[in-house]
This record gives sequence, structure tokens and C-alpha cells, in this order.
Amino acid sequence: MALGLRSLILKSDWNSAQYLKFGDQRTIPVRDLLAKVPLTAPKRVIDLGCGPGNSTALLKERYPNAQITGMDSSTEMLEKARKTLPDLNFIQADLESYQLEQPADLLFSNAVFHWLPTQQRVPIMQRLLEKQAPGGVLAIQVPDNADEPSHSMMRETAQQGPWKTELEKRKPALSRFPTPHKLYDALKPLCSSVDIWKTNYFHVLENHRAIVEWVKGTGLRPFLDPLPNHQQERFLQLYHEKLQRAYAPLKDGKVMLRYPRLFVVAVRA
Ligand SMILES: C[S@@+](CC[C@H](N)C(=O)[O-])C[C@H]1O[C@@H](n2cnc3c(N)ncnc32)[C@H](O)[C@@H]1O
Repeated sequence: MALGLRSLILKSDWNSAQYLKFGDQRTIPVRDLLAKVPLTAPKRVIDLGCGPGNSTALLKERYPNAQITGMDSSTEMLEKARKTLPDLNFIQADLESYQLEQPADLLFSNAVFHWLPTQQRVPIMQRLLEKQAPGGVLAIQVPDNADEPSHSMMRETAQQGPWKTELEKRKPALSRFPTPHKLYDALKPLCSSVDIWKTNYFHVLENHRAIVEWVKGTGLRPFLDPLPNHQQERFLQLYHEKLQRAYAPLKDGKVMLRYPRLFVVAVRA
């Protein structure tokens, strides 16, 4: 097909290879979150939503003597994580029902909580913190990019094709995360400190198709998964055209993807 977008068609479930195409850029916020964790030698660390193990590997690098467990609900992601880090412990579980068997010194979660149902995000944080011992840390990062063209163009494309009715039923767009104000108010009663900040990342990518490739591993999945292949192709074409209009090329022909992210580091009282 014209744009060569056929190769972009998705399988359902997470696809670790697709996700890791931009593994280096995706892992920068893991380093930034980790740098703000106020622990020097935690004994027990859990990587909630460890994905293919990229965040888990950095936890191991920073805390080589800790007992580190990666947990995730995706079989495919866990398979990749176990292959990459055969010495670490990985478990399959769903954060929605996950219960800590014993407190962990650090609960770390990069790019996961926004995938949880809207109403459950804060209660799950509270439930996890309640089980933490004093000084235990919950460290979270989530994308804060709902209003970026990369994401508003997904919603716009969803409204403009034969898939409109189907996608309206499914509401594929991830809902906005609670504001820093709400997060602080919800977590502070359990914590001695709650630090919240946002960072804008500016990723320079080869072209507009690279933006499609990037979000195809994450935010586009719920839009494409319900559609038959031929509609996925058309959706991607329209979305790509919109991105070409929304992101002006840099002088060297590349494009700059602005990517805001929200960070929370909460320490149990
Ligand atoms: C964007 S990836 C993040 C992977 C890794 N933490 C990183 O830093 O790149 C999101 C991961 O969250 C996992 N996930 C989403 N919802 C989950 C849930 N309810 N329970 C456990 N894992 C979940 C997905 O399977 C996926 O591996």
C-alpha cells in the first residue's frame, strides 16, 4: 500500500518487539524516576508492570543486592523479560487484584498506571501504600500526553471513518490521569512525603512514520485492536496524514515528538 503502512498492522496483546523499537527513549524516564527514589539499599523491590524488563534491568543496576521481582499481566512481555534477565524473578499478576504478600521497600512502576481503569488508579496506589512499612516507597511515572497532537489526532481519526460507531462503543482513548492536586490529597494521609513533578521530553525521530511506530506500541493499540486489518491500514494512513500536518519538520527533515510525563514518589509514613 501507498505509505508502506501495512507493516505497521498490530497483533493484539502487547508486542515487546514493537515496544522496544524505542526502548532507549522510553527508558529515559525510568532513570529519571529512579534518580529520585530516596533509598540507598532496599532489600525488596517490585517492578509493577515490568513489561519486557527494561525498567527491571535498571532497578537491578541501581540495587544489585536487592531481591527484585518483576510483575506484569502480559504473557508476551513476561516471556521477553525472563529471556533478557534470566536471573531475576518474574510473576504474572494483574495490578487490579494484586495484593502484596509482604511489604516491599520499593514499589516501582513506570508507564503502567494509566492503563488501569480510571476509577481504580488512586485506590490501587492507596492499597499498595497501606501495605508498605514506614519508609517504604511507591514511585510511579505515567505519560501526560493526552493533549499532544500524537494523541488528539488518534481521537480525531477515530471520529472520521467507518470505524466511528465501533470505536465509540469501546472508548479506546486512555482517560486523563488525576491531577497532581488530587494525587497529593489522596496519598498524603498515608505518607510522610509525596513529591510530584512533570517533565517534557523532546524526542527527535526520523520522520512522521516513526511517531506512528512509537505510539503503535502503546496508545494506538486500543484504537486498532478492535478493527479488521483493512480498517487498521486506513486508520493508520489517515492518522499519519494528520501527524504530517501537526508536526512541522525540523531543518534536518526529522520531527520532534514532545512527550510530557508525570512523576510521583510517595514515602509511607
Ligand atoms: C508501557 S509498558 C511499561 C513497561 C516497563 N515498565 C517500562 O518502563 O517500559 C506497560 C506494561 O504494563 C503492563 N500492564 C498494563 N496493565 C496492567 C495490569 N493491570 N496489571 C499488570 N500489568 C499491567 C502491560 O502488560 C505492559 O507490560
